[in-house]
Amino acid sequence: MRINGIVLAAGQGKRMKSKLYKVLHPVCGKPMVGHVVDLLDRLDCERRIVVVGHGADKVKDYLGSRTEFALQEQQLGTGHAVLQAKEVLGAEEGLTFVLYGDTPLIKEESLQEMIRLAKEQSAAGVVLTAEVEIPFGLGRILRDENGSLVGIVEEKDCTPEQAAIREINTGIYCFDNRKLFAALEQVTNQNAQGEYYLTDVISILRQAGETLAVYKTPDSTEGIGVNDRVALSEAEAVMKERINRKHMLNGVSIQDPSATYIEADVVIGSDTRLLPGTILRGATVIGEDCVIGPNTDITDSDIADGAEIKHSVLLEASVGRSATVGPFAYLRPGAKLGEKVKVGDFVEIKNATLGAGSKVSHLSYVGDAVVGKNVNMGCGSITVNYDGFNKHKTEIGDDAFVGSNVNLIAPVTIGKGAFVVAGSTITKNVEEDSLAVARERQSNKAGYAAKLRARLKNRPKDEDE
Ligand code: UD1
Ligand code: CA
Repeated sequence: MRINGIVLAAGQGKRMKSKLYKVLHPVCGKPMVGHVVDLLDRLDCERRIVVVGHGADKVKDYLGSRTEFALQEQQLGTGHAVLQAKEVLGAEEGLTFVLYGDTPLIKEESLQEMIRLAKEQSAAGVVLTAEVEIPFGLGRILRDENGSLVGIVEEKDCTPEQAAIREINTGIYCFDNRKLFAALEQVTNQNAQGEYYLTDVISILRQAGETLAVYKTPDSTEGIGVNDRVALSEAEAVMKERINRKHMLNGVSIQDPSATYIEADVVIGSDTRLLPGTILRGATVIGEDCVIGPNTDITDSDIADGAEIKHSVLLEASVGRSATVGPFAYLRPGAKLGEKVKVGDFVEIKNATLGAGSKVSHLSYVGDAVVGKNVNMGCGSITVNYDGFNKHKTEIGDDAFVGSNVNLIAPVTIGKGAFVVAGSTITKNVEEDSLAVARERQSNKAGYAAKLRARLKNRPKDEDE
């Protein structure tokens, strides 16, 4: 059966008190509306329509060609919002989900269950409901003596008896598409808020003799709608827990889940261990048998099997098999470490490739460079890649040895197997297997230290330099 999806995202979100449009606020690193559209992707929806109003352009920029859009110029209620999709969708056959752009915790399995119920009972509508402790502000589910759904009443329109009902409308529905749009035509705004309520479609369908179904989810967190930053943090906490749990069940050890933050699209191999303070973001992919953390922040990076990364920050970097990074390393965009590379403490790598087995163990900067295999970059050695106007490239051949505190003034090439003496400032290319020295010769003056000390000691106190 054909499935379509409508996402309501036209509301202003005043209570967020934000310059950022509500549905673009991220939960676990991804804008809320992105999570909702992901769900529609997983359901294999034929057509996806996002109803936009306030902030329309920003939402369109973010979603791009992933969905179609309908504009709701004035926010006259949820029923009116869905009606804006009629032009695009009204003539289609099949089932249509209505989801909210600010309700990102809905689970795919609940939506699948709703599809199953719609088919099994030939229902014109299936409502996702939940039982909650505090139903404040939400629509209440009305059932008849047989337990069948008869309608949904908004809190502001409730009698005291109805207000006591704790089964609430999450606002998520699966409708027969044709019947949805036919019923919407009959919705009026005769209610306490003067809005066109989508919820009225339920009683309209019921009165027309249609079958309605309810799926009451056992997990009421699914229905969390984000209206303010308090709810945003609740949504964040629930999703974080779900993501961590998924990885643990897939064989990833997380020593302290409360102190581990993994964004929705991160992939992690089994037997990898995450230590406290680990933050994994964006399109990061981590292999098997890695140890990540403590206190490590990785964004949009690829980490191969067996790598170890501690107390470090990585952005758009790639780390080879069994490489070690940190403590206190900073891998910036374009850092590519080969197998068994070692990047040690206080090292920054940017737009540079390091071949297998190379070591940059302490206090270095390597930028705009191609470093071969088994190269040793000594403590404090740096590439001087920037002349104030342009960036220049450094190339270092396999098995070269760059001594401590060497400056490689780019553009410059160090040949294979070359040896650059500690403290050198290299401005010219070094041939393969050559030794380069570029520093002052040392001269020692016997006995001078004692003489100097005596002179300094006898100097009158007020004699300033
Ligand atoms: C709605 C339901 C209520 C349910 C609750 C769950 C109605 C009448 N009530 O309440 O039964 O318990 O959701 O959260 O449907 N929107 C538009 N255009 C509009 C109005 C709303 O796009 O004109 C969007 C909002 O951006 C939001 C969603 O629809 O994403 C829900 O709107 P909101 O005002 O929060 O719904 P409620 O009245 O709280
Ligand atoms: Ca709401």
